[in-house]
Amino acid sequence: MIPIAEALLDWYACHGRHDLPWRQSRDPYHLWLAEIMLQQTQVESARPYYARFLQALPSWQALAAAAQDQVLALWSGLGYYARARNAQRAAQEVVTRFGGHFPNTLEAAVTLPGVGRSTAAAVLASAFGHRQAILDANARRVLIRSHAIDADPKAAATQQWLWTLASALTPEDAHGYNQAIQDLGAMICTPRQPRCVACPLVDRCLAHAQGRSHALPAIVNKAPKPQRCAFFLLVVDTEGQILLEKRPDSGIWGGLWCLPQAAPDGGAFPVLCSGTLHPLEDTPAVRQSLQAAWSRRLGLNLQLRALEEEQQHVFTHFQLRFRCVHARVWGSAVADSAATLRWHRPADALAQGLPTPIRRILRERSGGC
Ligand code: ADE
Repeated sequence: MIPIAEALLDWYACHGRHDLPWRQSRDPYHLWLAEIMLQQTQVESARPYYARFLQALPSWQALAAAAQDQVLALWSGLGYYARARNAQRAAQEVVTRFGGHFPNTLEAAVTLPGVGRSTAAAVLASAFGHRQAILDANARRVLIRSHAIDADPKAAATQQWLWTLASALTPEDAHGYNQAIQDLGAMICTPRQPRCVACPLVDRCLAHAQGRSHALPAIVNKAPKPQRCAFFLLVVDTEGQILLEKRPDSGIWGGLWCLPQAAPDGGAFPVLCSGTLHPLEDTPAVRQSLQAAWSRRLGLNLQLRALEEEQQHVFTHFQLRFRCVHARVWGSAVADSAATLRWHRPADALAQGLPTPIRRILRERSGGC
């Protein structure tokens, strides 16, 4: 056996996270769902979502046939909602193109929406025992440190080199090895403060030998995130219901229910606001354009009231700055030919697929935690 693999597998046998729920199963649906959830989410955050999702939608067929609103509600709070929309499309393709079975080659598996090479490899190794290497963030960090790779980790040439390395190091027992390297990256070879004294690879780690474990992977200078800004409308009708708007299918909150939005100039989408001194300032002109834009778009007779303090939400590629605008309304008939506007009682609103900042706003309003 290749020495690095042997050391990792021995360490995993004693110290690995054998109790993770998705590690109790070899069912491709379970393994695939876990990998999708874990693409951008930590294990402990994903755990309860994984359990709830599987209970509600236990098979490819159930997920394929579910209402998108149900899928997004089950995903609500996990973020990166394209994963949920892609997951449902992938389940539909597994049912229609692959007869209800996860494809058993890498080439076919990566044709599913949301399934990249590492995700496909993880499923194939664990579900079918294929010798397939993974290269998720944890495995990548372990390889970069153990081989003291200085290059920009995101560069295409580095990626290619890492894949070659990962494939060469992965033994026949790829299922065990993949889990071991994921756990080493998550528990020992962590992004900050790696615990090299407890690492089974310490004797062969080049970064450690060079005293550079903390300095790798190299941090390539990041440009500051662009800022976008928007106002969110918090309007409650005479029965205490809140108006929510379903976002169009594409985009960062695609398919989720949201408070109606408007840019400071009244436009329907958040706008870039870098360089503007007070982009969310409460001025008569801004109030007027918001009132006009929302009244027209929603078909409501609105009167704007208080504006809340500015808040922020950080996405991977930009930062959203927003303020909630409270409004009074006369009547609750909305202009809604596309059925994307709906009044919800507060408890019903919280049961929808909501973006995290919107859930926080509604929870605070209803006095919940
Ligand atoms: N990260 C990505 N896939 C994982 C898995 N199967 N177990 C733990 N962490 C992971």
